[in-house]
Amino acid sequence: MIRQTRHEMLTEIKTRFANRALTDQEVPQEVLEALVEAASHAPSCFNEQPWRFLIATGERRERLLATLTEQNQEWAGRAPVLVLTLSKKTFTQGGRDNYWHMSDAGCATGFFMLEAERRGLTAHPMAGFSRKQAREAFQIPEEYDIVHVMAVGWPGDLHLLSEKNQARNHPKSRKPIEELLL
Ligand SMILES: Cc1cc2nc3c(=O)[nH]c(=O)nc-3n(C[C@H](O)[C@H](O)[C@H](O)COP(=O)(O)O)c2cc1C
Repeated sequence: MIRQTRHEMLTEIKTRFANRALTDQEVPQEVLEALVEAASHAPSCFNEQPWRFLIATGERRERLLATLTEQNQEWAGRAPVLVLTLSKKTFTQGGRDNYWHMSDAGCATGFFMLEAERRGLTAHPMAGFSRKQAREAFQIPEEYDIVHVMAVGWPGDLHLLSEKNQARNHPKSRKPIEELLL
Protein backbone atom coordinates (compact mmCIF):
# COMPACT_ATOMS: atom_id res chain seq x y z
CA MET A 1 0.00 0.00 0.00
CA ILE A 2 1.67 3.17 -1.15
CA ARG A 3 0.28 6.60 -1.96
CA GLN A 4 0.61 7.88 -5.48
CA THR A 5 2.06 11.39 -5.41
CA ARG A 6 2.49 13.84 -8.25
CA HIS A 7 5.98 14.79 -7.01
CA GLU A 8 8.86 12.75 -5.66
CA MET A 9 9.14 12.86 -1.87
CA LEU A 10 10.20 11.03 1.30
CA THR A 11 9.14 7.38 1.03
CA GLU A 12 7.69 7.40 4.56
CA ILE A 13 5.25 10.17 3.60
CA LYS A 14 3.94 7.88 0.90
CA THR A 15 3.79 4.65 2.92
CA ARG A 16 2.45 5.99 6.25
CA PHE A 17 -1.24 5.65 6.91
CA ALA A 18 -3.51 5.34 9.94
CA ASN A 19 -3.10 1.57 10.16
CA ARG A 20 -5.36 -0.25 12.61
CA ALA A 21 -4.03 -3.78 12.02
CA LEU A 22 -1.38 -4.17 14.72
CA THR A 23 0.22 -7.14 16.45
CA ASP A 24 0.80 -7.31 20.19
CA GLN A 25 4.53 -7.93 19.66
CA GLU A 26 6.58 -5.84 22.08
CA VAL A 27 8.37 -2.68 20.94
CA PRO A 28 11.86 -2.43 22.49
CA GLN A 29 12.45 0.44 24.89
CA GLU A 30 15.34 1.84 22.82
CA VAL A 31 13.09 2.02 19.76
CA LEU A 32 10.51 4.01 21.74
CA GLU A 33 13.28 6.32 22.92
CA ALA A 34 14.43 6.80 19.32
CA LEU A 35 10.91 7.89 18.33
CA VAL A 36 10.83 10.42 21.17
CA GLU A 37 14.28 11.62 20.12
CA ALA A 38 13.07 12.09 16.53
CA ALA A 39 10.13 14.12 17.88
CA SER A 40 12.49 16.19 20.00
CA HIS A 41 14.21 17.49 16.86
CA ALA A 42 11.05 19.20 15.60
CA PRO A 43 11.12 23.01 15.45
CA SER A 44 9.21 24.99 18.07
CA CYS A 45 8.49 28.60 18.90
CA PHE A 46 11.46 30.01 20.90
CA ASN A 47 12.69 26.39 21.03
CA GLU A 48 10.22 25.85 23.88
CA GLN A 49 9.74 22.14 22.97
CA PRO A 50 6.31 22.03 24.65
CA TRP A 51 5.65 18.36 23.76
CA ARG A 52 5.71 15.58 26.36
CA PHE A 53 5.14 11.86 25.75
CA LEU A 54 3.74 9.55 28.40
CA ILE A 55 4.76 6.11 27.12
CA ALA A 56 2.22 3.65 28.49
CA THR A 57 3.13 -0.04 28.64
CA GLY A 58 2.05 -2.68 31.17
CA GLU A 59 -0.31 -1.37 33.83
CA ARG A 60 -0.17 2.21 32.50
CA ARG A 61 -1.25 0.95 29.06
CA GLU A 62 -4.31 -0.70 30.64
CA ARG A 63 -5.16 2.57 32.39
CA LEU A 64 -4.85 4.60 29.19
CA LEU A 65 -6.67 2.01 27.08
CA ALA A 66 -9.69 2.34 29.40
CA THR A 67 -10.04 6.01 28.39
CA LEU A 68 -10.44 5.18 24.65
CA THR A 69 -13.81 4.95 22.94
CA GLU A 70 -15.09 1.40 22.41
CA GLN A 71 -14.51 1.79 18.69
CA ASN A 72 -10.83 2.60 19.23
CA GLN A 73 -10.39 -0.04 21.94
CA GLU A 74 -11.49 -2.66 19.43
CA TRP A 75 -8.28 -2.31 17.38
CA ALA A 76 -5.93 -0.24 19.60
CA GLY A 77 -6.38 -2.86 22.34
CA ARG A 78 -3.80 -4.96 20.51
CA ALA A 79 -1.15 -2.21 20.43
CA PRO A 80 1.64 -3.03 22.90
CA VAL A 81 2.25 0.68 23.50
CA LEU A 82 -0.06 3.65 23.88
CA VAL A 83 1.37 7.14 24.04
CA LEU A 84 -0.40 10.05 25.69
CA THR A 85 0.85 13.22 24.01
CA LEU A 86 0.83 16.41 26.07
CA SER A 87 1.72 19.99 25.32
CA LYS A 88 2.77 22.73 27.75
CA LYS A 89 0.55 25.77 27.35
CA THR A 90 2.91 28.51 28.51
CA PHE A 91 6.46 29.61 27.81
CA THR A 92 8.85 28.49 30.53
CA GLN A 93 10.61 31.84 30.37
CA GLY A 94 8.21 34.61 31.40
CA GLY A 95 5.17 32.32 31.78
CA ARG A 96 3.19 33.92 28.92
CA ASP A 97 0.62 31.88 26.97
CA ASN A 98 2.26 30.02 24.10
CA TYR A 99 -0.18 30.35 21.20
CA TRP A 100 1.94 27.95 19.09
CA HIS A 101 2.26 25.04 21.54
CA MET A 102 -0.28 22.75 19.86
CA SER A 103 1.17 23.46 16.44
CA ASP A 104 4.63 22.58 17.78
CA ALA A 105 3.34 19.40 19.42
CA GLY A 106 1.65 18.41 16.15
CA CYS A 107 4.89 18.92 14.26
CA ALA A 108 6.78 16.82 16.83
CA THR A 109 4.28 13.97 16.57
CA GLY A 110 4.67 14.16 12.79
CA PHE A 111 8.40 13.54 13.26
CA PHE A 112 7.55 10.71 15.70
CA MET A 113 5.19 9.07 13.19
CA LEU A 114 7.58 9.33 10.25
CA GLU A 115 10.48 7.85 12.24
CA ALA A 116 8.12 5.06 13.35
CA GLU A 117 7.25 4.47 9.71
CA ARG A 118 10.94 4.37 8.73
CA ARG A 119 11.43 1.61 11.31
CA GLY A 120 8.49 -0.41 9.99
CA LEU A 121 6.27 0.55 12.94
CA THR A 122 2.83 2.10 12.99
CA ALA A 123 2.07 5.15 15.15
CA HIS A 124 -1.64 5.96 14.84
CA PRO A 125 -3.00 9.09 16.56
CA MET A 126 -6.47 9.11 18.13
CA ALA A 127 -8.81 11.79 19.38
CA GLY A 128 -11.39 9.18 20.35
CA PHE A 129 -10.77 9.03 24.10
CA SER A 130 -11.80 10.94 27.21
CA ARG A 131 -9.31 13.72 27.87
CA LYS A 132 -10.87 14.21 31.29
CA GLN A 133 -10.40 10.56 32.23
CA ALA A 134 -6.83 10.52 30.88
CA ARG A 135 -5.99 13.65 32.88
CA GLU A 136 -7.38 12.09 36.04
CA ALA A 137 -5.82 8.67 35.44
CA PHE A 138 -2.31 10.13 35.19
CA GLN A 139 -2.78 13.27 37.30
CA ILE A 140 -1.76 15.55 34.43
CA PRO A 141 -1.28 19.12 35.69
CA GLU A 142 -3.49 21.86 34.15
CA GLU A 143 -0.44 23.56 32.61
CA TYR A 144 -0.43 20.79 29.97
CA ASP A 145 -3.02 20.33 27.24
CA ILE A 146 -3.79 16.78 26.23
CA VAL A 147 -3.14 16.42 22.50
CA HIS A 148 -3.99 12.84 21.58
CA VAL A 149 -3.24 9.19 22.23
CA MET A 150 -1.08 7.28 19.76
CA ALA A 151 -1.26 3.52 19.31
CA VAL A 152 2.24 2.25 18.53
CA GLY A 153 3.00 -1.24 17.27
CA TRP A 154 4.10 -3.47 14.44
CA PRO A 155 1.74 -3.94 11.50
CA GLY A 156 -0.18 -7.21 11.75
CA ASP A 157 -2.76 -9.37 10.06
CA LEU A 158 -5.63 -7.44 8.54
CA HIS A 159 -7.99 -10.29 9.37
CA LEU A 160 -7.67 -9.57 13.09
CA LEU A 161 -9.85 -6.51 12.44
CA SER A 162 -13.62 -6.35 12.25
CA GLU A 163 -15.01 -6.33 8.69
CA LYS A 164 -15.76 -2.62 9.02
CA ASN A 165 -12.20 -1.82 10.05
CA GLN A 166 -10.74 -4.12 7.39
CA ALA A 167 -12.65 -2.20 4.73
CA ARG A 168 -11.26 1.16 5.85
CA ASN A 169 -7.69 0.07 6.60
CA HIS A 170 -5.95 1.76 3.70
CA PRO A 171 -4.37 5.17 2.95
CA LYS A 172 -7.08 7.82 2.58
CA SER A 173 -7.32 10.11 -0.40
CA ARG A 174 -6.22 13.74 -0.19
CA LYS A 175 -7.53 17.07 -1.41
CA PRO A 176 -5.79 18.14 -4.60
CA ILE A 177 -3.00 20.61 -3.89
CA GLU A 178 -4.85 23.25 -5.96
CA GLU A 179 -7.46 23.31 -3.18
CA LEU A 180 -4.78 23.94 -0.55
CA LEU A 181 -3.11 26.79 -2.37
CA LEU A 182 -4.74 30.14 -1.58
C1 LIG B 1 -5.70 14.31 15.84
C2 LIG B 1 -6.11 13.04 15.17
C3 LIG B 1 -7.13 12.27 15.74
C4 LIG B 1 -7.49 11.07 15.17
N1 LIG B 1 -8.42 10.28 15.82
C5 LIG B 1 -8.63 9.02 15.39
C6 LIG B 1 -9.41 8.12 16.17
O1 LIG B 1 -9.91 8.44 17.25
N2 LIG B 1 -9.57 6.87 15.70
C7 LIG B 1 -9.02 6.43 14.53
O2 LIG B 1 -9.18 5.26 14.19
N3 LIG B 1 -8.26 7.27 13.77
C8 LIG B 1 -8.04 8.53 14.18
N4 LIG B 1 -7.24 9.39 13.45
C9 LIG B 1 -6.68 8.96 12.16
C10 LIG B 1 -7.36 9.73 11.01
O3 LIG B 1 -8.67 9.26 10.84
C11 LIG B 1 -6.52 9.55 9.73
O4 LIG B 1 -5.24 10.09 9.95
C12 LIG B 1 -7.20 10.27 8.55
O5 LIG B 1 -8.41 9.65 8.23
C13 LIG B 1 -6.31 10.24 7.33
O6 LIG B 1 -5.96 8.92 7.03
P1 LIG B 1 -4.44 8.49 6.84
O7 LIG B 1 -3.68 8.94 8.07
O8 LIG B 1 -4.49 6.99 6.73
O9 LIG B 1 -3.97 9.13 5.61
C14 LIG B 1 -6.88 10.61 13.98
C15 LIG B 1 -5.86 11.40 13.40
C16 LIG B 1 -5.48 12.58 14.00
C17 LIG B 1 -4.35 13.37 13.37
